[in-house]
Amino acid sequence: MSNSNDDFAFDISLNLNVRGMPLSATLAINELSNKLKKEGKKVYKLGLGQSPFPVPRTIVEELQANAHQKDYQPVKGLQSLREAVADYHSRRNDIICDAESVLIGPGSKELMFLLQFCFYGDLVIPTPSWVSYAPQAKIIGHQIVWIETKESNNWKLLPKDLHKICKGDSNRPRILVLNYPSNPMGVTYAAEELFEIAKVAKQYQVILLSDEIYGELHFEGKHISISRFYPEGTILSGGLSKWCGAGGWRLGTFTFPKTLTWLMDTMASVASETFTSTSAPIQYAAVRAFRQGIVMERYLWNSRKILKKLGNEIHTMLAAKKITSPTPEGAFYLFINFNKVRNKVESKNVFTSKELTTKLLEDTGVALLPGSVFGRPENELTARLSYVDFDGVRALAAAETIPLEKELPEDFVKIYCGRILEAVQLICNWVD
Ligand SMILES: Cc1ncc(COP(=O)(O)O)c(C=O)c1O
Repeated sequence: MSNSNDDFAFDISLNLNVRGMPLSATLAINELSNKLKKEGKKVYKLGLGQSPFPVPRTIVEELQANAHQKDYQPVKGLQSLREAVADYHSRRNDIICDAESVLIGPGSKELMFLLQFCFYGDLVIPTPSWVSYAPQAKIIGHQIVWIETKESNNWKLLPKDLHKICKGDSNRPRILVLNYPSNPMGVTYAAEELFEIAKVAKQYQVILLSDEIYGELHFEGKHISISRFYPEGTILSGGLSKWCGAGGWRLGTFTFPKTLTWLMDTMASVASETFTSTSAPIQYAAVRAFRQGIVMERYLWNSRKILKKLGNEIHTMLAAKKITSPTPEGAFYLFINFNKVRNKVESKNVFTSKELTTKLLEDTGVALLPGSVFGRPENELTARLSYVDFDGVRALAAAETIPLEKELPEDFVKIYCGRILEAVQLICNWVD
């Protein structure tokens, strides 16, 4: 009998649902960018969707003051945090909820996984959609139903298309995920659009997971939650990662209607056998964040001003080269389409979105994410550009010196977000 290690074939015991599964696309591009950087190449990290801004000072101080909190917390979350989250949603989103409606988790991504794990039914998502919804469904073994969208409609979900999916088998259990302001499109939905989508969801009793993690980054500060129009069927997802610059802190929140308490309780039971509870110091600090106040308001106002100006500027630069994207309305993404310059791109032997982003990274050092990881067809020349690779501490400090009601000066983006302009110029030159 041979003792060679080659005789061991433990990998055949991998769960079929995860066999051959790659690292999440966003993390993979980040690791590749870091590797190229280490090799001495200049890399523009426009692949990862991380807030460029620091965690507000008051929230950091709250975390410092609570570093000694060492006990396991209740599985559904620290009571004062659940209260603060419920107050926040009542105040900001005009919905009726209380602390008992709130579930806290180590990131909203983990809560989404738990939800999909506990709920039996299809996952319905528009394409393009954020990278992790579909892989989570795949891991669990749920059927994924993609709803097609059009660039001419800013890649937004139309109620009639949801209706089409549902009417075929009107009793089938389903979760629809709606995310706005959107990753990857950077657009949002108007109240009337939300109302119409809610109407169809209600008609077919579809559970709506409304991923509003970028809600506070609506450029005009006018985010509207769809839960207003379908309160009994909407789970509202949020967290600290995007508007508080605290992605690495790992704190997410779900807010449930009373009709879905059974689902929240089941998720909590599974959580009690898996992550137990979310980090105690982080939860204490988060109470301060959700209570908001004048310091947070200033921080948010200035963050939005910077993102809006930067987003619009690069959208215009790209449009001048016929690289199209919807006009940005929130978050920090552009979903760019090279279809109008397809001939030029194909002359570089690039025919798919993966080839597009790989060649761009090799030729220019600009890292983007291919459209295919958002559910778009492989041969569509689309990609997501995250405009976050700049010094957010410096930019925010500069914006804070300008009166709130005043526009940022014309050269603000050039001075404080120069790297992004440089990267976008490289993309434009590359196409030419
Ligand atoms: C649309 C969207 N939803 C959810 C998440 C997950 O956020 P977290 O797990 O940090 O709360 C992200 C993070 O990139 C996202 O872009």
